[in-house]
Amino acid sequence: MKKIIAANWKMYGNNNFVQEYFEYLTKNLKNNNKKNIIIFPSYLHLDKANFFKKKSNLFKLGAQSCHCNNKTAQTSSISAKMLMEIGCDYTLVGHSEWRNNNHEKNISHILRNVLTNNMTPIYCIGENLSDKESNNTESVLEVQLQNIIDNIDYYSGKIIIAYEPVWAIGSGLTPEINVISFIHSYIKTKISQKLPSLQEKDIMVLYGGSVNIKNTKEILNTNNVDGVLIGGASIDVKEFTNICNQEL
Ligand code: PGA
Repeated sequence: MKKIIAANWKMYGNNNFVQEYFEYLTKNLKNNNKKNIIIFPSYLHLDKANFFKKKSNLFKLGAQSCHCNNKTAQTSSISAKMLMEIGCDYTLVGHSEWRNNNHEKNISHILRNVLTNNMTPIYCIGENLSDKESNNTESVLEVQLQNIIDNIDYYSGKIIIAYEPVWAIGSGLTPEINVISFIHSYIKTKISQKLPSLQEKDIMVLYGGSVNIKNTKEILNTNNVDGVLIGGASIDVKEFTNICNQEL
């Protein structure tokens, strides 16, 4: 199965950055059929990114979130249909930075909207520091996973979860490697217990939180890890290209 290497640019970038990033990436990225590279720029830069996606065919494109409806009058929002039309293959759903500013009750509807518009959601879950310190990681993840279970009928392809401990995002800290493997296995088991018809290979779990050139290889080679979601280190195009070109 192809490993996913995803770049989450968050609120970073301007026109020059995007141009230079994709010129460098598409020139230096090795065509590697063992990996699936996905870039998540800001909404504003999706169109330009799609130009390079179509020209190079070396990466896929995703958005960082979307609204839960396609048609209502929602000033300032972006619908899943708009994202699909502009070339997105994936959408992040429920990133912890998004959860900080939005109503969690909409997440299930966002997942459904992404799925019904023929994109694949990458559903982000993770415990915060106090959950971890009070040994509540598994119960927090179980509650967050309910949104996947509730929308399972809409899935036809793979289910992709990104396990991103909130305390690891942008902090330079990561869980022990055996903890990452254990939690990924826990996530896969939880989903397949609820839905016995699913096979393990249909459930992909990415790790995110302080992934960089130094730790990617070890993380990607860990049992139950199907890919990585990279924030800060993906902004540096040379580092990100090197991460993608590493032999696994
Ligand atoms: P980070 O962010 O790699 O900067 O920790 C990851 C993310 O927020 O997806």
